[in-house]
Amino acid sequence: MAIRLGDTAPNFTAETTEGIIDFYDWKGDAWAVLFSHPKDFTPVCTTELGRVAALRKDFAKRNTKVIGLSVDPLDSHMNWMRDIEDVTGHALNFPLIADVNRKVSDLYDMIHPNANDTLTVRSVFVISPDNKVKLTLTYPASTGRNFDELLRVIDSLQLTANYAVATPADWKPGQDVIIASSLSDEDARKRFPGFNAKKPYLRVVPQPGEVQTTR
Ligand code: BEZ
Repeated sequence: MAIRLGDTAPNFTAETTEGIIDFYDWKGDAWAVLFSHPKDFTPVCTTELGRVAALRKDFAKRNTKVIGLSVDPLDSHMNWMRDIEDVTGHALNFPLIADVNRKVSDLYDMIHPNANDTLTVRSVFVISPDNKVKLTLTYPASTGRNFDELLRVIDSLQLTANYAVATPADWKPGQDVIIASSLSDEDARKRFPGFNAKKPYLRVVPQPGEVQTTR
């Protein structure tokens, strides 16, 4: 069954390039990104895994752990890791699940028969410290993901988890944000004195809290 926003992310045990992992134990109370790849030794996937390895510090700064998945076996992953480092200059520094029996792929609905009934699509799940699914993305095999965008979304998710705000189109950390519509004007005045009401339903304030720098 499809995983929806707000669902509890299913737990699993899986063989990975860093040993057997129990997802919940590995994740602890951090945020997590679980992302799938159609197949080992494929060009777009190779660039994606190198890019995520390069962003290690950026994910760590956001208390976010990253775990990849591909349906090929562990020995294939181990050989592919050499290519990833060779091509991108970045050694894999996060676990890659060898989901040979498709247990995790099925659990997270990563195989879409309309795309290919044996390979996972490019799924992304962002999971919060309380193990709730906060973001799902599905890309086709032919389009590599934008991991700067993923960091931007994590910044928005972490900000909106802590403050009664939402982030507007194309928002970047440090830019103005929108007061949540659940907040009355009276409460908004207390929490965000001097807000700018562009419309009664569009109340803008400078971003509260710490401003993340991407790198
Ligand atoms: C790729 O990663 O390049 C890829 C994977 C599966 C199908 C097409 C492209």
